[in-house]
Amino acid sequence: MGRKTEENRINNFIRGKIMIVGIVGAQFGDEGKGSVVDYYSKNTNVVVRFQGGGNAGHTVKFDNIKYVLHNLPCGVLRENVLSVIGAGCTLNPVEVQNEIDYLTRFGLEISPEKLIISPRATLLTEVHKEQDKLLETTTEGLGTTRKGIGPSYGDKILRRALTLGTGIELSFEELEAAISKQLTESKVSPEAISTKDITAELFAALKFLSPYVKDTGQVLTEKMINNNSIIFEGAQGTFLDINHGTYPFVTSSSTVAGGICTSTGIPPIYIETVIGVVKAYSTRVGRGPFPTEMDNKTQEIYRDLGQEYGATTGRPRRCGYLDLPAIQYAVRVNGLDGIILTKVDILDSFNEITICTSYDYDSDTFTEHGIPLDLDKVKPSYETIEGWGNEFKTAGMTEKANLPVNLKKFIKLIEDHIQVPVIALSTGPNREDIVELTNLFDYSLFSLKERKETEEMRF
Ligand code: GDP
Ligand code: IMO
Ligand code: MG
Repeated sequence: MGRKTEENRINNFIRGKIMIVGIVGAQFGDEGKGSVVDYYSKNTNVVVRFQGGGNAGHTVKFDNIKYVLHNLPCGVLRENVLSVIGAGCTLNPVEVQNEIDYLTRFGLEISPEKLIISPRATLLTEVHKEQDKLLETTTEGLGTTRKGIGPSYGDKILRRALTLGTGIELSFEELEAAISKQLTESKVSPEAISTKDITAELFAALKFLSPYVKDTGQVLTEKMINNNSIIFEGAQGTFLDINHGTYPFVTSSSTVAGGICTSTGIPPIYIETVIGVVKAYSTRVGRGPFPTEMDNKTQEIYRDLGQEYGATTGRPRRCGYLDLPAIQYAVRVNGLDGIILTKVDILDSFNEITICTSYDYDSDTFTEHGIPLDLDKVKPSYETIEGWGNEFKTAGMTEKANLPVNLKKFIKLIEDHIQVPVIALSTGPNREDIVELTNLFDYSLFSLKERKETEEMRF
């Protein structure tokens, strides 16, 4: 992809096994980013959320406990990791405080030494949430999470939002005036919310969060200079990106790898590797084009097996077949160096695996998404391969020895189409349920693409 400069390569060499890696969703969100970031964060010092807010629902399971994180990076679940929330995020301080309290109840310690938040992050208020609900109920809506994401980013783009940093500096009266102004600017009925009550709640939450607010850009730069490994944890997915997704059926932030830099203030040269998280089939929540969506009966089977219900809203997820033209697009837009295939265990149950390998559109055939803008009009072409479940069940597998032959064929077919390696398989929801095919952190000199590992080395 030409992202890797000579200088960067020398830096890698000097740094040895230090990694700066972006882990982003390559589909419509809910690919399993939470558990993947959690797995790899055992090797890192810092985990950064760079965009989005409470719309995310990242699930991590270990020691028989299921954690669902919305605003906080998955690094908060590791003792020796610094978690960072970057400038590109939008935060509801009341919900952030609740999330910290929720983790504290599990015995996890969250302190300003472990978590820092950019003062530049957008301050999302109850007014934004009400605005989101109003838009969803009074227009056709696009099936948002109703967390206030669109309206808060809208105010940011209109340059009238508060930032966390400015919010913290305000007196109670100033904050109340700001909320009243927001209410007037919105179409929310003044009867819908009590300005006094929401100001009181917000004021208390801002006081609580105040010690966590630091110049995250500066801290991250120092961490990089001092040879720390960093994971940038994407939220949502490539097709929900505001610029490159299925607009207008998208979220309101830059979910793709480029967003890491614009949202954190980190220069592009530092991002050494970008990994895409790909579910072995597809899901989507909310409205919008979904070329490989299955018939209702098949969707129900996948939904049941994969427990495909929203981690934030509990809504049933729409289910579809693995869409390789879509992944190919994600490879291009994010400059992916490799992908991690999640929920492989769900495919254990099928004798045949159906995969979309191209689209027909307007008498042309496309193997990559993005050429026709109107995805509703493409007609997917499918290939079918034999499943592996009769030979071997992958559920809970952690070692790559004895990978079933048909699973290897599945991986090979994917790689042939997307031209980047599958570097790991996720075989269950638990922390340890990952099969590494390539050691992501053994990066001393060559990037994943430059290593050109043979099949024998990987399987
Ligand atoms: P995220 O938003 O990308 O972090 O994904 P979600 O947490 O919203 O959804 C992924 C769901 O699948 C969660 O319930 C995870 O616990 C679960 N999960 C993740 N990886 C696997 C896997 O490999 N196999 C199975 N069966 N479940 C998984
Ligand atoms: P994670 O990080 C899946 C979807 C919503 C809706 C659209 C806009 O868990 O993968 P928004 O509330 O952002 O204005 O909604 O985006 N959406 C997600 N879908 N996973 C997510 O996050 C999502 N965050 C938003 O369903 O279609
Ligand atoms: Mg999710």
